[in-house]
Amino acid sequence: MARTRIVIDTDPGVDDAVAILLALASEELDVLALTSVAGNVDVDQTTRNARRLVDLAGRPDVPVARGAAGPLVHAARFEDGHVHGHDGLGDLTWADPTAPEAGEHAVDLIARRASEAPLTIVAIGPLTNLALLRARYPGIESAIERVVIMGGASFAGNVTAAAEFNVWFDPEAAASVLAGPWPITLLPLDLTHQATLTDVDLAYFAGLGTEVGTRVAGMLEPYAAYHERWHGNRDVIMHDATAVYEVLVPGAIATRGAHLAVETGGALTRGMTVIDRRRAHAERPTRVGEHLDREHFVALVRERLARYPLS
Ligand code: BDR
Ligand code: CA
Repeated sequence: MARTRIVIDTDPGVDDAVAILLALASEELDVLALTSVAGNVDVDQTTRNARRLVDLAGRPDVPVARGAAGPLVHAARFEDGHVHGHDGLGDLTWADPTAPEAGEHAVDLIARRASEAPLTIVAIGPLTNLALLRARYPGIESAIERVVIMGGASFAGNVTAAAEFNVWFDPEAAASVLAGPWPITLLPLDLTHQATLTDVDLAYFAGLGTEVGTRVAGMLEPYAAYHERWHGNRDVIMHDATAVYEVLVPGAIATRGAHLAVETGGALTRGMTVIDRRRAHAERPTRVGEHLDREHFVALVRERLARYPLS
């Protein structure tokens, strides 16, 4: 079986954590590295969290390379911890991570791995590192097989009425990445909101009796409380795990060709993704995710996370 070579560009993040654990449990994927970026929390903490997660998965051999500390243009604006906790992973207690930080910048690591063989980038945080990759390595797009991005929204945003978090955090970077000549699949909020876990699933993880199961349930508990405050129910949205799912089970997410762009001006719409689905764009290599089968998604996440050993 040919394994898909991926780098996960990430700002862990509770849903990033589930995405990473899903990928590391899946033999279909060859996870070459995690690259960190500022987003849900600052880059010191997203890097630390990525190291915690490779430790948790029993994969300290997966390099963690630090990336951008903030957006291209404006100063970083971090949330107050009400979504992902102050540490980004639900404020559990963790031992100091043993997995080392790679001695290479995230962008250089991605370029190096892309030069060796076809590479898919799974981008589940703000797109600053990918914009810097384009700037530092002109023409790099031709060495990238695919870019799968969790970001944007076709309709309502989640930080503002118009903007989704990953795009809102660094709109200039997202504009650059979406304009690049590489095959992009964008998974916006209207797709990711179909990928929910319920209290039944949280109880399932807690009941596994494994370190991974206990920590996943622990991380998801405050995330569920946030969902209840914000959305009116405790179903947790697994935004970032949909990006791994897209690579893991090709075709599982129904997509269509679209022209993708980002509003970088606008008093009310800065960070809005403009997803043009008109028929003229139907055959474009840039695609937008539209539908997934929730039951299949949940069953896969459960089955893969149950693979982690008891200790
Ligand atoms: C995105 O924002 C972050 O908070 C999540 O990790 C996800 O990547 C959803 O808008
Ligand atoms: Ca994320």
